[in-house]
Amino acid sequence: MNSSLANLIISLNSVAMGDKKADLILKNCNLLSVYTKEIIPKIQIAIIDDRIAYVGTDAAHTIGPKTTVIDVNGKYVSPGFADPHLHIDQFVLPSEFAKKALLCGVTSLFSDPIDIVSVTGYKGFQEFLKLGEDLPIRIFQVVPGGLPVDAKFSNSKTFSLSQEKTAIKHPHILGLGEVFSWTKVTLREPKTMKSLSTMLECDCIINGHTAGISEKKLNAYVSSGILSCHEPINFDQVLERLRLGMWVMIREGSIRRDLKEIIPRVLSHGTYLNRLMFCSDGLNPLDITKFGHIDHCIRESIKLGLKPIDAITMASKNNFDYYNMGKDLGGIAPGKLADILVFNDLKSFKPNKVFVGGKLVVSNGSIVTYIKKKIISPWIKKTVKLKKFAKNDFLIKSKKKDVLANTIFMQTEIITKIGSAELHSKNGHVSASFDSDIWKVAAFDRTHGTNRHAIGFLENFGADIGAFASTWSFHENDMIVIGSNDSDMAIASNHIIKNQGGLVVVKSGKILASLPLQFAGIVSTDSFEKVSSNFQNINNSIVDSGCKFARPHLIPLFLPFLALPSVRILSGGIVDVKKRNYIQPIN
Ligand SMILES: [Fe+2]
Repeated sequence: MNSSLANLIISLNSVAMGDKKADLILKNCNLLSVYTKEIIPKIQIAIIDDRIAYVGTDAAHTIGPKTTVIDVNGKYVSPGFADPHLHIDQFVLPSEFAKKALLCGVTSLFSDPIDIVSVTGYKGFQEFLKLGEDLPIRIFQVVPGGLPVDAKFSNSKTFSLSQEKTAIKHPHILGLGEVFSWTKVTLREPKTMKSLSTMLECDCIINGHTAGISEKKLNAYVSSGILSCHEPINFDQVLERLRLGMWVMIREGSIRRDLKEIIPRVLSHGTYLNRLMFCSDGLNPLDITKFGHIDHCIRESIKLGLKPIDAITMASKNNFDYYNMGKDLGGIAPGKLADILVFNDLKSFKPNKVFVGGKLVVSNGSIVTYIKKKIISPWIKKTVKLKKFAKNDFLIKSKKKDVLANTIFMQTEIITKIGSAELHSKNGHVSASFDSDIWKVAAFDRTHGTNRHAIGFLENFGADIGAFASTWSFHENDMIVIGSNDSDMAIASNHIIKNQGGLVVVKSGKILASLPLQFAGIVSTDSFEKVSSNFQNINNSIVDSGCKFARPHLIPLFLPFLALPSVRILSGGIVDVKKRNYIQPIN
């Protein structure tokens, strides 16, 4: 045992025995015990430094002249909540997200910064790690586990095996993030297998992503050491994964909401809850403000019939058990880190007080700790390597007068199919047609400084705008521009270059809405409130203009995402996902 650990247990032991005095005592707690599934009244908790030393009915022997005693007057006390899988490299910096998460009682975030890596590689990952350190919230990270999505078409950066090995030596890096390209596992792709075995040799966790697979493919995936998944969208998928020894994170976030479908069946089946957790997978600023975070999952699950103590356990202990951190976190017991929530009742689950490592960080629903602004390296705010655009940069040439175009037909904001449209050329160029709801769509490599780009047609968008452009795309890094006319497409693109990333909506030469994302072109350096307002303006300006979808920001986000059907656009070309080949915009 090293000397600091020996000193730690001697210190905790001494406080428990009353031979040393506590820093803080919480008394009159109605303790939600995640170990026995009880609510235990009149409990006293003694804390020294950042850990709990004593939990019992009388902590008087630990009180000294410098001990702070807080009487919580019979309020409910639980361990801090965790989000076991989310992408915090979205919208706002971790320091801004932390403020909102803490107000929801979330004291630990398990971050998968896949898009930071896809844009900026290992160097940007290190930069992003710094942003998550020394905050009044615990941020654990994983090495992104699915990049590139498809080496044949992808533009994204990734880690080498040696970079992965180096990264997991960092104390806050727990292992490999969601291995979402499951075919790389079932086909035993050599780099993926080496990566998985390295993680297992080093006792690291590997997060899964098993959307749509079952039976032998799922068995192959699990036998490769990947033991969790947040993709089940119904109870049968949950049960199949639990039966194979997996842990399941039920997702309730901005991309999907699965609680309503899954929790009632979990209850009617009487499923063992110990391997179930809640996760967000990522929350946009409007959703965390409107719905909340893991506290929302607890409220919703209770409405669906789950007992409060079970919901609390799924929100706390189970996460740390999964990540092999149960000896330090997840419950209120001697030796544990003092991440503690105090609630007025068992209805709102908005904590009145939040302690992280024994320090009060939220009181009466407000942040009461100072969150220092981090210094950001200038290079990561200059990732849009594109030259100034002119309207001629968006031309699609054709020698024929009448052409049959292959379109990307939007079925939802996310799912596409290959469509076709009869279009006419004028002066050797084929234009978009607002009347027929045919749009131009372009993808430009904005990271590597090449001039690589693709231009095609998109169908069924519907908004009466000139152009919509974005640098944020899952998990690629191209700039996507959708437009009804080339001139507005150029204006939107140039605005993005000026801001070095973000989303913008243009009509008739005017900027209708703009959301600057200066950090790697995917995260804003602005305040949460400003980002939230800009984000709302982006969606509202498109929806109010007649767009057929309620969440238009998702369109450029998913247009290059190769893991979903049926047709995608990247700077290398338009891709038929199933056939895995490029298709031309016009026949
Ligand atoms: Fe995810």
